[in-house]
Amino acid sequence: MGRLDNKVAIITGTAGGQGRAAALLFAREGAKIVGCDVGSDYYSDTEVTGTAAEYSKWTAKGLDETVALVRAAGGEMVALQPCDLTKQEDADALIQFALETYEKIDILYNNAAKGEFAWFDEMSHEQFWKGMTQELDTVFLPTKAVWPHMVAQKGGAIVNTASMSATKVYAALPCISHMTVKAAVQGFSRHLAFEGAPHGIRVNSVAPGLIASPSTGPFLDDPEFRDAFLRESMIQRVGTPEDVARVALFLASDDASFVTGANYAVDGGATGM
Ligand SMILES: NC(=O)c1ccc[n+]([C@@H]2O[C@H](COP(=O)([O-])OP(=O)(O)OC[C@H]3O[C@@H](n4cnc5c(N)ncnc54)[C@H](O)[C@@H]3O)[C@@H](O)[C@H]2O)c1
Repeated sequence: MGRLDNKVAIITGTAGGQGRAAALLFAREGAKIVGCDVGSDYYSDTEVTGTAAEYSKWTAKGLDETVALVRAAGGEMVALQPCDLTKQEDADALIQFALETYEKIDILYNNAAKGEFAWFDEMSHEQFWKGMTQELDTVFLPTKAVWPHMVAQKGGAIVNTASMSATKVYAALPCISHMTVKAAVQGFSRHLAFEGAPHGIRVNSVAPGLIASPSTGPFLDDPEFRDAFLRESMIQRVGTPEDVARVALFLASDDASFVTGANYAVDGGATGM
């Protein structure tokens, strides 16, 4: 008996990293997975080496590969690509695709995002809002598209991906856009939880710390970068995508039936320091 038996789960950004880990885990727990990603060439210039290679099973590239891994493990998954969730029409198409395939949607895990990183001095207004679009529209638009269906079926679980960067500053990380937008994701989630409660819809967020993934992999061998994080972490290791997926699984499952409007840190204690 799986914790997500008979559930249909949309997970966004499933080409690698946390989205892939969640697809594998949720499928193992019995969910039918609908994945998506912006495009298969997103990571084409990302070479993962050294320490990050430890996490290579998470940093392998491509949505087709995720689908193949889920199916090889006996799970069920379909996926839509290219699907750019900064566009309402693509978000609508994803929800439509899920409904046409499985006729209902129980879980929406908004994992996909792409941050913009620069110090304020160097960040243009345009780049700042690019970050907003790539990290907040990718939450707002799929949620907007799925909402009427969850309201009509009188239930659903939405898990949004915030970050420890919503609340914690690192001297090594130029986070002005990323911090602003991940704080917005937390606020959005809490307010939506209030609006969803009368409809049986739960909304929570996860706030990962430093997690080995295709986007962080290339930096993990830089001792300055890694140590800046580990110095301020209770647990002395980098997180894995599965660390986050396990918490998202809990929030998406009926085990969390009395949990809404919450933000769960998955950061080795970093925000507790
Ligand atoms: N890795 C970390 O250290 C870390 C820390 C805190 C928060 N996060 C958050 O965790 C989530 C997952 O990140 P990850 O570490 O697995 O990184 P990642 O970059 O490997 O994964 C993000 C995935 O989302 C996809 N994506 C990006 N923009 C998209 C769009 N517009 N439409 C569709 N798909 C899109 C990417 O192609 C990629 O496959 C993100 O929301 C990220 O901000 C990551």
